[in-house]
Amino acid sequence: MENDGRRNFLGICLGGLATLAAAAVSFPVFRYLAPRSSKVTNGKVTILEKDMPEGEAKFFEFAGSSAVLVRKRGGELTALSAVCTHLGCIVQWEKDKQDFLCPCHAGRFTPEGVVISGPPPKALTKIPFVVTNGTITVG
Ligand code: FES
Repeated sequence: MENDGRRNFLGICLGGLATLAAAAVSFPVFRYLAPRSSKVTNGKVTILEKDMPEGEAKFFEFAGSSAVLVRKRGGELTALSAVCTHLGCIVQWEKDKQDFLCPCHAGRFTPEGVVISGPPPKALTKIPFVVTNGTITVG
């Protein structure tokens, strides 16, 4: 009787682990195959304005490198290279602080790419963009 209880408990634990392992494997595949909300045409990236809520940032590939579009709280948009000007790591958007953090040496940048603190010697490079009929075109 006691062995049956242990077997059932072990079975539940193994089933849970198998489910977690399946999720860990399938999520990256799903992310790779899922449609993206940005599109590249003639080297320009288009993103729908409705996909950029206030306070959010969206990372994308631009001209063979990593770039980011950010909409500050208050509505202003900025497009930047996401490559840190210190040693080239990719910055991360910290939504709660509304700034960019470089994970390599803790460089911080404003939503406009200006250095706040840390070792980066200069601002993130701005990328030109236009907004037409609800579509943001970067590049
Ligand atoms: S590479 Fe970004 S702070 Fe060093």
